[in-house]
This record gives sequence, structure tokens and C-alpha cells, in this order.
Amino acid sequence: KLMNREEVSQVRGVVLQKSTCEYWNKIWDFQAKPDDVLISSYPKAGTTWLQEIVDMIQNDGDIEKTRRAPTDIRMPFLERINPPYVGLDKANEMPSPRVLKTHLPVQLLPPSFWKENCKVSIIYVARNIKDNIVSFFHFQRMNKGLPDPGSWEEYFETFLEGKGLWGSWYDHVKGWWEAKDIYPILYLFYEDIKKHPRREIEKVMEFLGKNLDEKVLDKIVYYTSFNVMKNNPMSNYTLSSLMNQSVSPFMRKGVIGDWKNYFTVAQNERCNEDYREKMDDTTLSFSMEY
Ligand code: PPS
Repeated sequence: KLMNREEVSQVRGVVLQKSTCEYWNKIWDFQAKPDDVLISSYPKAGTTWLQEIVDMIQNDGDIEKTRRAPTDIRMPFLERINPPYVGLDKANEMPSPRVLKTHLPVQLLPPSFWKENCKVSIIYVARNIKDNIVSFFHFQRMNKGLPDPGSWEEYFETFLEGKGLWGSWYDHVKGWWEAKDIYPILYLFYEDIKKHPRREIEKVMEFLGKNLDEKVLDKIVYYTSFNVMKNNPMSNYTLSSLMNQSVSPFMRKGVIGDWKNYFTVAQNERCNEDYREKMDDTTLSFSMEY
């Protein structure tokens, strides 16, 4: 096990890094600006992918501009308090228009984002629960800023019980799904972007009010594909000292259905059952047959 792993605590029943909890009042008071773009997701749902897509769109497909700095420096992570920066400070000193990232469940989003005069563009990305668990498990193994995940069996149960970091996957995806009926949120799915990248990127472009020609769009599809991003030091987190990529690479597999390599038959049944129960009260649905 890795040493010096960070501890966790809770804000309103949601498990978060202890440093985030200690900073909570400041995070809650964060002032959004109308021309901000906020990328929101449960961890490991495709955040970095969407960040790259949005940044390329904002920069009209200019690859040099998009490679100006690593992902986490270009687009501050709101609730991140551990080194090398405090997300809030980074965001506050940044010129507009800003692209920000958060993994906060909808009820914990700082209220300034919802203010009537604050027309923040919010894009949410969700990933099917099974691949999301697997990806998060590997991430906690390699990220020294997060608690050690323990065994796969333990991790799997903790996740389903909603006791993992950033809280319940169910509450997260459902909460943001409901919010999209009240606020203008573009709600995307990892699996859709994987299967139809061009179509989904076009949706993002339209949502951001951009009109890029076909060639630029093709370029964005190419430069945001898994293999290109995996080999790009500005998007693969190899410059992050928190991550031990020899344990598991950040750009790990980037596929749909890797859960089949990890779930036992019993775990699959347990997950299907749990899913049926907890997704009973929503119109949101994911295919469970990946
Ligand atoms: S984080 O740490 O929460 O910001 O992680 P996040 O970026 O949300 O999720 C990482 C997973 O997304 C995969 N990924 C991609 N898949 C397909 N295409 C592209 N371009 C892409 N970029 C990132 C990444 O590989 C992680 O998934 P797994 O399943 O672990 O490979």
C-alpha cells in the first residue's frame, strides 16, 4: 500500500477529501461568472475527455493553444485543495472565459452557479456504473492524493453503498439529470461520445454557441481520440506528481465494457439488482448490456 494517503471526511453526508471539507466554506462561496463553462461529472466518467473537447472548441481547433499547459492547469478543478494548487485560487486568478471542472454532486454545487443572472454553460457527462466503478478503482490505486481503495471486493461494496469519494454514483447521475430540467445543462454520456464522437462533439459546439467548419470538427475528433490523448503529455496527466502511472496509467483503456474483466457473476447480479432498485425513481437510464 502507498503511504501518506489523504484522509476523507464528509460534507452534508457526502464523502470528500479531508482538505476539501476543511475548505468547504470557501468553496461554497465561490463566485461563478456568466461566461464560465463548467464541466461536471462523477469521477472517471470522461471528464478529461470532455475538457479536451471543450478546450479545443473554445480555441477553434488550435492544437498549439490547447497544448499550452496540462489539463488541470488549463481548467481548474474547483474543489481541489491539494498541491500543486488550490482550485479556487487558480480559478479566481484566471482570465475569462474560464473552463472549470467539478465532481461535486448537484446539491453541493456553489449557489452562485445557479443565480438567475449567471448564465454559466454547464456540461455534465455520465458513464455506465460498471465501467465507472472499475475505472475509479484503478484511479484510487494510482493517485497518491486519494485514499487507498483496498481490495476490489471491498471497493465494489463501498461504491454501491454510496460511501466512496464524491458520494453515491446514483445520487450524482440522478441529481444532475433532474437539474437539467430546470437549468440549461447539456447532459452527455461517455458511451455516446465513444460511439459517435463527431455527433456528440457537434452537440457541445452548438451548446457553446460556436460554429466551426467541418475540417476543424474533424481535427477535434482526431485530437480528442483516446490514443492521441494518451500520447499527449498535456492531457495524459504524466506531468502530475500525484499520480503513479506505473501502477495504472491515467489514460488506462478508454473502452466500453471493461467491467467484464473484473466483475464476478455474483457481483454482476448484485450490481444489476442494486441498479434496478436505486434507478426505480428516475427517467434516466443506462444500458446495462455493454
Ligand atoms: S477524472 O480523474 O475524474 O478527471 O477522470 P475522467 O477523465 O473523468 O475519467 C478517466 C477515464 O476516461 C477515459 N478517457 C477516455 N476514453 C475514451 N476516449 C478518450 N479520449 C478518453 N480520455 C479519457 C480514461 O481512459 C479513463 O477511463 P478508463 O476506463 O480507466 O480507461
